[in-house]
Amino acid sequence: MTDPGGTLSAVVHGRRSIRMFLRDKPVPRELLTESLELAMRAPSNSNIQPWRLFLASGRRRDRLVEALLEQATRGYPATVGLPESFAELRREVGKMVYGAMGIARGDREARRIAQLRNWEYFRAPVAGAVCVHRDLGPVDSMSVGMFLQTLMLALTERGIGSCAQVSIAHFPDVVREHLEIPDELTVLCGLAIGYPDPDFAANHLDTPRNPVEANVVFRED
Ligand SMILES: Cc1cc2nc3c(=O)[nH]c(=O)nc-3n(C[C@H](O)[C@H](O)[C@H](O)COP(=O)(O)O)c2cc1C
Repeated sequence: MTDPGGTLSAVVHGRRSIRMFLRDKPVPRELLTESLELAMRAPSNSNIQPWRLFLASGRRRDRLVEALLEQATRGYPATVGLPESFAELRREVGKMVYGAMGIARGDREARRIAQLRNWEYFRAPVAGAVCVHRDLGPVDSMSVGMFLQTLMLALTERGIGSCAQVSIAHFPDVVREHLEIPDELTVLCGLAIGYPDPDFAANHLDTPRNPVEANVVFRED
């Protein structure tokens, strides 16, 4: 199948992780609904549609952020537990993101303040938690990922920004309590949704990607 207008390619290239939103610009519900309806078209193992998404706005979102920040200011995990073989790419993107925020390498306090914005959902007016049933396995989390990427692309197409956030899953109990998430669901990550702040340089980063050959192997003989 081709995309004669090039729309999909433009949207894929246009999406980027947004780390500063316009707090006071609400996301119209109809655009959110349209995007969610598109995301529901994602494929899944046996069509079980295992994604569960909880979205908070208004006072509910504010209470969630307040509780998350309270926890995070007391301390948060220093690493995301990535094996050393992946750490270099993480350092590279960290350098880019903090560099664009104007944070010098050794400035630990500025870095900490920037990291804390994770638990403020980067000021997004819509604060989400992406979940999956605890009895399902990695293959079903793949389906959740497909839903998530489709959602982020649909939002991008509508001029709305987003950021997936594993950082939110560092405090599952807080998220669970404030979003009333049932026990049988695992919190995989957070999702910030809102209009990007155009003046925030780190919102315009073109993060690099490996060449295809680094990740894909053709066996043709
Ligand atoms: C599952 C997942 C979790 C992520 N968690 C975070 C996070 O906690 N904080 C953050 O700032 N970015 C987070 N990101 C964004 C990645 O850093 C980003 O996707 C990557 O650097 C590529 O940049 P791009 O999204 O702008 O193309 C996450 C992305 C994914 C897919």
